Amino acid sequence: MMVVTSDIEKAAEVLRAGGLVALPTETVYGLGANAEDPAAVAQIFQAKGRPPTHPLIVHIGGADQLDEWVEEVPATARLLAEHFWPGPLTLVLRRGRRVPLEATGGLETVAVRVPDHPVALALLAAFGGGITAPSANRFGSVSPTTADHVRAELGDAVGFVLDGGPCGVGVESTIVDVTGDVPGILRPGGVTREDLEAVLGRPVTVPSASHVRVPGQHPSHYAPRARVVLAEPEKAVAEAELAQQRGHRVGLLLPPALAGAPVKAHAVVTVPASMPAYARGLYGLLREFDRRGCDLVIASLPAEEGLGLAIANRLRRAAGPRLSP
Ligand code: TXA
Ligand code: MG
Repeated sequence: MMVVTSDIEKAAEVLRAGGLVALPTETVYGLGANAEDPAAVAQIFQAKGRPPTHPLIVHIGGADQLDEWVEEVPATARLLAEHFWPGPLTLVLRRGRRVPLEATGGLETVAVRVPDHPVALALLAAFGGGITAPSANRFGSVSPTTADHVRAELGDAVGFVLDGGPCGVGVESTIVDVTGDVPGILRPGGVTREDLEAVLGRPVTVPSASHVRVPGQHPSHYAPRARVVLAEPEKAVAEAELAQQRGHRVGLLLPPALAGAPVKAHAVVTVPASMPAYARGLYGLLREFDRRGCDLVIASLPAEEGLGLAIANRLRRAAGPRLSP
């Protein structure tokens, strides 16, 4: 951890002055602004190259502050907030008047979460208000899980980068819509469906693999520069070698069962067998393939249970059609 108290105070000052601060969370790094300052929020969209209709998450300092940001807190939301916050869970609720429409992309709902990272919590406490923060990457690309990723990608666009070390969860928060009768997962993430269902004592819906429900969740999200292609685990090696023979510089995410297998490809990384370790490393691995000059990445989907659901979701989106060539 490379953050001292004076850094926190300086970052809070930048936020108060309407500037942008990159901050670590347990999931990925965020690009933060004062949630109540429409001009500061507008700067986020500009720095990311993100369409202004894509809603942001408002980060707050504790579950006890939730009522200040939303119109009402249904019992289900209260239960989830008390159980999972601070943590990688985002709740979508009806927007309170304190939240400007700029932050919600014009929606009458707002996404709120309490991040589980000492630096983020210290900044929220020092700042006192809500911090609206998307992942600190350019629109459509891989989310940053280290401060170096943020500097490399956004550099001068950020007033201040708080370096809180590598993110422990590594994929974004789980977004749950609690505005209706049945809570629904809009984006799988760091809190698993199984954990949610255990606490609620009822099933939670998940979007089908191809169905895009959340604004800002285009298929091409979370993509490295290299094209990503999905393969069945037992065919991944053969497909990687074939593509390499055809002149591609292939990066292969080797399924754990094949660890140590000799593969004729440009870059081969064995995927961790543990899902938390895989989630933690996923975005770094995708960036590493770009750094090593791969133009094609071949990956297999893990079983879609537990954290595997979020990992598979990100790999599918990374492999989805690109917005621009
Ligand atoms: O883990 C995370 O959630 C990270 C860290 C920085 O907190 N943040 C993050 O933000 O992933 P972003 O902007 O990259 O993704 C936020 C997602 C978007 O897909 C957006 O569509 C969805 O949250 N979202 C925000 N407000 C919403 C709303 N009112 N209704 C539905 N979806 C919403
Ligand atoms: Mg993002």
